[in-house]
Amino acid sequence: MLKVSDRGNSMPESPMRKLVPYAEAAEKNGIHIYHLNIGQPDISSPKKALNAIRNHNIDILSYSPSDGFESYRKKLSHHYSKQNINLLPDDIIVTAGGSEALSFAVSCIFDPGDEVLIPEPYYANYLGFATALGVKVVPIECSINDDFSLPANDKLSSLITPRTKAIILCNPGNPTGRLCNDDELEQIRTLAIKNSLFVISDEVYREFTYDGKIHTSILSLKGLEQYGVLIDSVSKRYSLCGARIGLLASKNKDIMRAAMKFAQSRLSPPTLAQIVAEAALETEDDYFEKVKIEYVKRRNYMVERLNAIPGVKCPIPSGAFYCIAELPINNSDDFCKWMLESFSHKKETVMMAPGSGFYTNKETGLNQVRLAYVLDVKDLSRAMTCLEIGLEKYKAR
Ligand SMILES: Cc1ncc(COP(=O)(O)O)c(C=O)c1O
Repeated sequence: MLKVSDRGNSMPESPMRKLVPYAEAAEKNGIHIYHLNIGQPDISSPKKALNAIRNHNIDILSYSPSDGFESYRKKLSHHYSKQNINLLPDDIIVTAGGSEALSFAVSCIFDPGDEVLIPEPYYANYLGFATALGVKVVPIECSINDDFSLPANDKLSSLITPRTKAIILCNPGNPTGRLCNDDELEQIRTLAIKNSLFVISDEVYREFTYDGKIHTSILSLKGLEQYGVLIDSVSKRYSLCGARIGLLASKNKDIMRAAMKFAQSRLSPPTLAQIVAEAALETEDDYFEKVKIEYVKRRNYMVERLNAIPGVKCPIPSGAFYCIAELPINNSDDFCKWMLESFSHKKETVMMAPGSGFYTNKETGLNQVRLAYVLDVKDLSRAMTCLEIGLEKYKAR
């Protein structure tokens, strides 16, 4: 009998995408859906970046080098130096999105049965990449009541076993929107050096920090140069999700040698999109300033509306464009599905990502949802009204 692998069967579904069939069915019934389930910004991509392919003369759309165009990697090296991150062009491998960089990093570091520490709730696809390679995710439990801060050092140390090979840190965090403070980065630094752990640092939201807070890269922490593996992406930074360009970067030559073999096996990153990404590096700083002002406006609006709903709790995030909200329900998988299948207000509803998908123990997130504030305030206002009325009707059903 034909049979797919046990690993294939045990791959987790994406909490951001698993309700899509219900959303499609609702749309077919004429319901407008506010998509707060997925981090697809509605911000325009920088014109300079898009014009780069409009104006490009291409005769043959050929492969690029496996580690990406040298001209792009050189410019990236310069770009990082301005952010106090010392990377040579050879320390960088361009990938098909941050997703491929994560998959390479996990493949380079872990053998089946190894363990990875991840502050929880975490970006759901980390569990997917780990599961695909037979790696065990050991969650570092962070609580909404503590604003998702890291637990004390003794708690962190108690999670280490002889099979622990790395920590995955998402900073600023998806799904929490939390930015690590200096003390937490020091905790990670000490833990990594003391226990010889790699730190896979997912910094795809690096520019999105608010309230005057500044992001510090793992690669700029003293003593972590050999431990850090940076994951980056143009998807959110320049609103270029469809370009599928990201990168893996490390000063550790062993990691880079191994990663290059994975890069060669998939031949090359997308050629056309590298031209776009290279041009995106010329984006003026005021693009980010404007984008940040917009996200702060949306964040403030959404978090205020959420906290004004009886029984809802949502800490104010300091980065990225997500928040986790606790709702007065006991099964957010059911609630999010119900909002698409059985509810509408003025022919509108809202799609959210159920919290369970961001936790190893699915019970933990059952009264939580992740919301992305990637729509303008007018749309967010209607989405919040749908949520408010939806919650009342769900409880009364
Ligand atoms: C934390 C985090 N890392 C990585 C990715 C992967 O993004 P991409 O493959 O588009 O670069 C995402 C996408 O949402 C993300 O939120």
